[in-house]
Amino acid sequence: METPNFLGGNIRLLQMRERDLPAICECRNTGGVRERFMDAEEVTEESTRQWFEKCIEEGDCLWVICPRDTENIVGMVSLYGIDVAESMAQFGRLMVLPEFQRFGYAREALATVMGWAKYSGLDHLMLEVRNDNRPAILLYESTGWETEVIEEEVRVMSRSL
Ligand SMILES: CC(C)(COP(=O)(O)OP(=O)(O)OC[C@H]1O[C@@H](n2cnc3c(N)ncnc32)[C@H](O)[C@@H]1OP(=O)(O)O)[C@@H](O)C(=O)NCCC(=O)NCCS
Repeated sequence: METPNFLGGNIRLLQMRERDLPAICECRNTGGVRERFMDAEEVTEESTRQWFEKCIEEGDCLWVICPRDTENIVGMVSLYGIDVAESMAQFGRLMVLPEFQRFGYAREALATVMGWAKYSGLDHLMLEVRNDNRPAILLYESTGWETEVIEEEVRVMSRSL
């Protein structure tokens, strides 16, 4: 699946490049972001680069989020585990730097990526989110995601496209 660039109302989603990795690493390690992920350990630039190479090898779609009129990277979003035969993929690695949160950037990025997934022939997305991540769960529930399974720490949600 391709990873096109999108110009939206308030953000641009740009295909992630190797040069973006220091900003992504910093964003992922920021307090308020890092501890929201299942693996809350700090990442390094080297581990971020290894992760990026693996994603590219596996055909994941990775985007950086920039406010519409800037080149500043304020977050990221992705589709991974893309299974064209099963018409499904995992949505994830959504993050926005704390000082840029509550501007509607994640909502717009999510809508754009869901639209692209549908256009590309997928009919189903899945994600995992920590049960204590109320902001993210509210975002997903308000955009039509449904909880499939709740475990002790994490829930699986799905969205038909
Ligand atoms: C979750 C996250 C991506 C939301 O980013 P954002 O750009 O601030 O989100 P938006 O401004 O688009 O808000 C969308 C909706 O999310 C919910 N939401 C976001 N932040 C919230 C908060 N602090 N408290 C309650 N609800 C919140 C609301 O439903 C909001 O809609 P509303 O503004 O109409 O009420 C951001 O908080 C983040 O990066 N968190 C850390 C990483 C993370 O949790 N990623 C998701 C892993 S599954």
